Amino acid sequence: MRHAYITQDEIRAWLKEDDEARLEDLWRRADAVRREHVGDDVHLRGLVEFSNRCVRQCAYCGLRAGNRKLVRYRMSEAEIMDCARQAMACGYGTVVLQSGEDPGIETDWIAALIRRIRSETPLVVTLSLGEQPEKDLSAWREAGADRYLLKFETSNKRLYERLHPPLKGKSGDRIAMLHTLRDIGYETGSGTMVGLPGQTFEDVVEDVELFRGLDLDMIGIGPYIPHLNTPLGRNAQRVRACDGEQVPNTDQMTCKVVALARIVCPAANIPSTTALATLNPTEGRELGLMRGANIVMINIAPLQYRVHYEIYPSRMSESDEAIRHRILTIGRKIGVGRGDSPNRLRRVRSVNAAGKI
Ligand code: 5AD
Repeated sequence: MRHAYITQDEIRAWLKEDDEARLEDLWRRADAVRREHVGDDVHLRGLVEFSNRCVRQCAYCGLRAGNRKLVRYRMSEAEIMDCARQAMACGYGTVVLQSGEDPGIETDWIAALIRRIRSETPLVVTLSLGEQPEKDLSAWREAGADRYLLKFETSNKRLYERLHPPLKGKSGDRIAMLHTLRDIGYETGSGTMVGLPGQTFEDVVEDVELFRGLDLDMIGIGPYIPHLNTPLGRNAQRVRACDGEQVPNTDQMTCKVVALARIVCPAANIPSTTALATLNPTEGRELGLMRGANIVMINIAPLQYRVHYEIYPSRMSESDEAIRHRILTIGRKIGVGRGDSPNRLRRVRSVNAAGKI
């Protein structure tokens, strides 16, 4: 456990460090922790964004209900099953079903879809369907879903509330929902955006502390990318933190948070995100993988739909072949099998050893 502990002061100092030569120490340390705890395999996930309909009004997101310019779609069960078979053919171990908060999707429809994927393919099912009631989460877990992703986006409550108008009948407490997911038995993932207007360095220190406190199994970190058809994209200047405090939405800053996430949650699965690759198309994907990440999610929804899943503009979408090439070129291997989070496996083992289920 040479590298595993880092103090809050060190986290703060790294976030403020701009000297590329000194930052090499952070990159090296994160890379060593990554190698020691999750190895050289990069697991590929097949991502199916099956509906871009959403009732929420998140101030930064292009899928927000208020964006009338977006063409909306919802894929059929048959189309999603085609994607699942394609994921299997590509050798992926996992299919990630992601959508906006689409009230037209019924709990039982999702449950039946999960059962079908589990019985007709060897794939692990990850869900990323936003904030949902406990009874639905339980039904999907029983149907065979193993993992759930729900980003808390920012640990700063005031900033969170400014960006996420509440919806009637929903608690809006994502931290509570992450605990519920864990209790139900999901492998649980969360994450943040880096460089949100109004986000300070202290906020990001707290984000990293929250990763540690929640003992996350999966952590997705991407830069905030302005979208002009959203209120935040149009008004960023007005809500920026004061100079010197505003966190930049750069690839370097995103990599720092990825590296720190790896150090505080050594055995988590951490993707090198599409948002990072979008910000730096030449080498963003590789930088993430070399600075702590061990997962890549590949979009496999049909192109005719994918172009409308516009959470932010010019979203990068690379082929399976191009992504494999990037991974192999930096000396890493393509993972085979389920690619479960070693963090969850360890937790389950220690709970069993303590004599509980
Ligand atoms: N920039 C970067 N990431 C975004 N997301 C949504 N909008 C943006 C944006 N403008 C991310 C959020 C959300 C996921 C669906 O996409 O992290 O959880």
